[in-house]
Amino acid sequence: MSGCPFLGRKRHKPSQAEEEDESQKGINKATKGGIVYGEYLQLDKVLSAQVLQSQQKGNKIHDEHLFIVTHQAYELWFKHILWELDSVRDLFIKNHVRDERNMLKVVSRIHRITMIFKLLVEQFAVLETMTALDFFDFREYLSPASGFQSLQFHLLEAKIGVADHLRVPYNRRHYRDSFHGQESETLLSSEQEATLLQLVEQWLERTPGLEKDGFNFWGKLQANIEEGLKMEKHKLEKMEDSEAKEDLLADLNKQTEVFTALFDPERHEHLLSKGERRLSYKALQGALMINFYREEPRFQVPFQLLTALMEIDMLMTKWRYNHVCTVHRMIGSKAGTGGSSGYQYLRSTVSDRCKVFGDLFNLATFLVPRAWVPKLNPNIHKFPYMAECYDSSYNSYSRSCDSKDE
Ligand code: HEM
Repeated sequence: MSGCPFLGRKRHKPSQAEEEDESQKGINKATKGGIVYGEYLQLDKVLSAQVLQSQQKGNKIHDEHLFIVTHQAYELWFKHILWELDSVRDLFIKNHVRDERNMLKVVSRIHRITMIFKLLVEQFAVLETMTALDFFDFREYLSPASGFQSLQFHLLEAKIGVADHLRVPYNRRHYRDSFHGQESETLLSSEQEATLLQLVEQWLERTPGLEKDGFNFWGKLQANIEEGLKMEKHKLEKMEDSEAKEDLLADLNKQTEVFTALFDPERHEHLLSKGERRLSYKALQGALMINFYREEPRFQVPFQLLTALMEIDMLMTKWRYNHVCTVHRMIGSKAGTGGSSGYQYLRSTVSDRCKVFGDLFNLATFLVPRAWVPKLNPNIHKFPYMAECYDSSYNSYSRSCDSKDE
C-alpha cells in the first residue's frame, strides 16, 4: 500500500445542512452522456497548438509561450471578425437590406466587430509585459515567420475595402506577391468580391429623399446653403470696417469655396480619381442626408451604421499604431523577420491611405446650421416614416390580430 491517507476513505455523505444548502441543489448532467466542454471546443487541438520553437531547439524561453498565445488569440478574433463581416456583406449582396428591419442586424454585427477591435487594440499591452531582451532570446527561432504573412489580416483589409492602388508596397512589391498557392488565390478572389465600402455605397445611393423629382434633398440643400451664405455676407458687409470683419469675411470666403466644390460633380470625380474620395457623388449625398436627418425614425439606424463604420476605421488605425509602437519597442529599427524595414515600413501604413471610410469623417466639413437644412413636412414628406420594401412574413402576429378585428 502507498500509505496515502485518502485511499480507502468512505464516500462523503452530505450533512443535513449541506442537503438544505440551496446553492448546492442540482445534478451533474455531464455524467449522463453527450458532448462535454473540452470536446465541444476541441480543446485537445487548441491547447496543444503552442509549440515553442525555442524548446524544440533545446533552449526553452519562457516568454515564447506568451508570444504564441497572443498571436493565436489575434488570429481567432480575426476569424470571428471575418465571420461577421461576411455575414453583413451577404445581407447587402442578397439585397436583404431592402427590408429595412434587417438594418438592425447589420448594425449590431458591425458594432460587434468594433467591440472586438477595441479588445485587439488593447491586447498589445499584454505582449508589452515582455521586454525587448526577452524577445531577443527567442526571435532568431521564429525567422522568417512574420505577422505580415497573416492571411486573415489581409483578407480583412481587402473585404472592408482598403484600396488596392493606395496600399503601401512591401519591399517595393505588391503585398500579394508575398503569398503563394491557395493563399494567393484566396486573396485575389477576396479582392474581386464586393467590398463592404462598395456595398454601403450602393445602399447610400438609394437613400430615400435624394430623388430629383421627389424631395430633391441635394437641390434644396444647395439652394439653402447659397442663400444662407449670401445672407451671412450681407450681414458682415454691414459691419463697421475692422480687422475682425476682415477675418470673418475671409472665413466666409473659405466656406463658400468649400461648398462650391461640394456642389460640383466634376470636382468630386477629380477627387475620386486621386483617391481622395472613395464614395460616389450620390452616395456622398445620401450619407450627408442621413447625418442631417439622423433623428427621423427611418434614418436613426442608418446613422448608427455610418458611425460604426467610422469606428472601424479609427480602430484599425489605432491597431496599426499600437502594433508599430510595440514593434519599435521590441526591435528598434532592425529589419523585420519577414524581411521588411520593420518599424519604418509599419509606420508608413499608419496613414489615411489605409482608411476606407474617410468620406464619412469628412462629412463634418459640410455641416451647416440647422436652419439651413431643408425642412421635412410629415404631411407631405412621408418617406422618413415608412419603409419602402416590406416583407409581410415578419408580421404574421399583427396580421392575425388584424383578421380578428375584421
Ligand atoms: C513582439 C511583437 C511583434 C513584433 C516585433 C512584430 C514585428 C512586425 C514586423 C517587423 C512587421 C513587418 C513585416 C516584417 O518585416 O516582418 C510586422 C507586420 C505585421 N505584424 Fe507584427 N509584430 C509583433 C506582434 C504582432 C502581433 C501580436 C500581431 C497580431 C496578429 C502582429 C501582426 C502583424 C501583421 C498583421 C503585420 C502586417 C501589417 C501590414 O503589413 O500592414 N504582429 N510585425
